[in-house]
Amino acid sequence: MTHRVKSLRFRLTISYVLIFGLFLTVIGFTFRARLKTIIQDRVEEAVEEDWGAARGFLRVEREQAIWQVDPREMDQTLFLERLRRFVMVADSQGEVLEMSNGYRLQGVETAAELRAHFKEGSPRLVVKELGKDRVLLRFGVFRSEGKLYLLAVGRRMTNVQGLPNAFMRDYFTVLPLLLLLTFVLGWFMAGRALMPVNRLAEAAQRISGSSLHLRIPQRYANDELDQLIVAFNKMMERLSENFEQIRRFSTDVSHELRTPLTGIRGQLEVALLTARTEEDFREAIVNALEDVDRISNIVRALLMLSQAETGQLALKHEPVNVTEVVEELVEQFRASAKEEGLRLNSELAPDVYIRGDRTQMDRLVTNLLANALKYTPRGGQVDVEVRMDGANAVISVADNGKGIPRESLPHIFDRFYRVPGEDPDKGLGLGLSFVSWIVKAHQGQMDVKSEVGLGTTFTIQLPLNTEDSTPESSIRLAEVRQ
Ligand SMILES: Nc1ncnc2c1ncn2[C@@H]1O[C@H](COP(=O)(O)OP(=O)(O)O)[C@@H](O)[C@H]1O
Ligand SMILES: [Mg+2]
Repeated sequence: MTHRVKSLRFRLTISYVLIFGLFLTVIGFTFRARLKTIIQDRVEEAVEEDWGAARGFLRVEREQAIWQVDPREMDQTLFLERLRRFVMVADSQGEVLEMSNGYRLQGVETAAELRAHFKEGSPRLVVKELGKDRVLLRFGVFRSEGKLYLLAVGRRMTNVQGLPNAFMRDYFTVLPLLLLLTFVLGWFMAGRALMPVNRLAEAAQRISGSSLHLRIPQRYANDELDQLIVAFNKMMERLSENFEQIRRFSTDVSHELRTPLTGIRGQLEVALLTARTEEDFREAIVNALEDVDRISNIVRALLMLSQAETGQLALKHEPVNVTEVVEELVEQFRASAKEEGLRLNSELAPDVYIRGDRTQMDRLVTNLLANALKYTPRGGQVDVEVRMDGANAVISVADNGKGIPRESLPHIFDRFYRVPGEDPDKGLGLGLSFVSWIVKAHQGQMDVKSEVGLGTTFTIQLPLNTEDSTPESSIRLAEVRQ
């Protein structure tokens, strides 16, 4: 885990450095090109100015170029000195009248070439090689003493190449250093960004069955990592809830089993010590057997539920007369309802058939009825209804008992869940788990409405048996299948 996070950090940093390096390189080259055009433009402007100034100082008299400057003017003298490094004056025949040494060095045009420049007339810029350097020449025609002459002045272009190159040299010397710095910075930043992930990993590692309460502190940055933390914490919430349920369940089961076991032990001990007649022994055994029954019921229920939930319980798929099932069970429960001072009403549409497992239908209705009677105080009323609604059979069991608190409603179908404060002797919290599983296994739907103090209504919808079958033929079909 740590290793993976580290390599993620490395990858992040490297891609950061690469992208940054690429950007800097592109910027460097763009800058260099721009610099070059700017300097080139400057040189061209300067040459242009030089030419204008030179033209102002120049006069030709009897085939002789004469520079007219005021010797007392420092500026003019210096300017002329610089100007005369690259200067050439020719007449219309291509005859050179004056040529500086610098000009000579970068190559002299033939008379024909000069004449061509002359004919061209308009100002011309020409670049010439001078050793490693280059010179920008400006040719132009001017008039003196009524005749036309050709004047060329030049400037070295040292900076046009040199400056950008020097810039590039410096730039690419500094670049690796910059990238190194970027790497260090990126490494630091990636580390910081990944810190919550590391914390998450550490927290996950610390968590065990006994520390399920651990949560990772949220950073309230509202970013992806916060989402991850929230999701993680929610998962922990669910895990610890499940864990808590299982823990409660073990306690419940032990408790539930201990009561009848203590009973059996007591009855057998008493019989051993005090029983005289066969009748006494028989009574003790009968009592003990009742408790054994209770134990085996619990064990069977647990076993079945776990089989059901892991899909090991095979369900039958036969037509079941729901009306009949409910009717029989209502009759069975009538006695105990009366005993507990409850009215039990039923309103049953005749012969409502579904497809499924009759034993499980029995179990479903039994659980709902038992709950309704169990959680409705004396004087209350329980209404059972079977009807058809479109393509569904509807079974509803409504009571006006104590109701289920709103916060408990989402949990009542959980395995082993009981509303807090419920008498632990009254159940294991498994009944509705069965109900929920049976409804699901029959592709049905279930709905609970409950109001504390007013009562509870469970409504089950199951798809009607659509395969054409009279009761007789479906029984035969069921028999054949068995
Ligand atoms: N008709 C009802 N009225 C009020 N509370 C109910 C009703 N049916 C179920 N409950 C609540 O839901 C819990 C879960 O029901 P169930 O799974 O059948 O477990 P058990 O009946 O063993 O307690 C019950 O403990 C009870 O608190
Ligand atoms: Mg129950």
